[in-house]
Amino acid sequence: MRGVVLAGGTGSRLFPLTKVTNKHLLPVGRQPMLIHPIFKLREAGISQILIVTGTEHMGDVVGLLGSGRDFGCQFTYRVQDEAGGIAQALSLAENFSSGEPVCVVLGDNIFEDSIADEARRYREQGGGARILLKEVPDPERYGVARVEGDRVVEILEKPQRPPSNLAVTGMYFFDAQVYEIIRRQRPSARGEYEITDVNNAYIEREELSWGRLRGWWTDAGTFTSYHQANRWVMDANREDV
Ligand code: DAU
Repeated sequence: MRGVVLAGGTGSRLFPLTKVTNKHLLPVGRQPMLIHPIFKLREAGISQILIVTGTEHMGDVVGLLGSGRDFGCQFTYRVQDEAGGIAQALSLAENFSSGEPVCVVLGDNIFEDSIADEARRYREQGGGARILLKEVPDPERYGVARVEGDRVVEILEKPQRPPSNLAVTGMYFFDAQVYEIIRRQRPSARGEYEITDVNNAYIEREELSWGRLRGWWTDAGTFTSYHQANRWVMDANREDV
C-alpha cells in the first residue's frame, strides 16, 4: 500500500499565519504540521509517499522533506494548481499509485493512535474503502456518519443537524476504483470536489468499512483546533518539551 499526504488548500481559516507560508509548515509541537501524518504512515509500514501541495509553497515543502532519506521513506511530489477540493487533490495520485491501494491522510490531521492495525484490517478486507470515525463534541464542523446497526449508511458534509457525533477523520483507505469515482464527480455547492462524495460512492457500492479511533484526534485548520493540536502533542511528548 502506498501513502498520500494532501497538503494543498489555502489555509484561509488560519490567516494571517498562512499569509506567507503553507498551513502544513506551521509548527505543531516540535515539528512542522506535515511531519505528523508522515510519521503515522511510517508507523503503519508505508514508505512510498506522495505529497500534494499547491504551487506557492512546493519549494518550501521539498526543502523540508527532501527525498525522504531522513524519514526512511521515498517521497514523490505533485502540484495541485488550484485548491479544487480534497478529491481533486487525491486524483493527482493516480499514476503514483499504479493500481495499488492508498492510505490518504489530510496534512492538517493529527492522530494519537497508531494506524498500523487499521492498515492491517484494510489489507485483509481486500479492496473497497475504509474510514476512521471519532466521537467529537462539535460534529457540524466535519463530515458526519449516519450509522444504522454496524453500518455507515451515509456521510453528510458539515450538516447543520448532525445525525451522530461521529466525525469522519482525515485518514482514508481506498482501492484503485477511487480515481474512476472522482472522474464521475461534480463540484459541490462550495465549488470543491468533496471527499465525502467519494466515500458515499463506496457506501452505494457496499464497499465501505469503518473503524473507531480510541485516542485523541483533531485537525489543525482553525485557531481553536490548531491550539488544541499543539496542546495535545506537547502533552504527549512532555519529556521533549
Ligand atoms: O479534518 C477532517 C475533515 O476534513 C473531514 O471531516 C471532512 O469531511 C473533510 O471535508 C475535511 O474538511 P475541511 O473543510 O476541514 O477540509 P479542508 O478544506 O480544511 O482541507 C483539509 C486538508 O485537505 C488540508 O489541510 C489540505 C488538503 N486539501 C484541501 C483542499 C480544499 C488539499 O490538499 N487540496 C484542496 O484543494
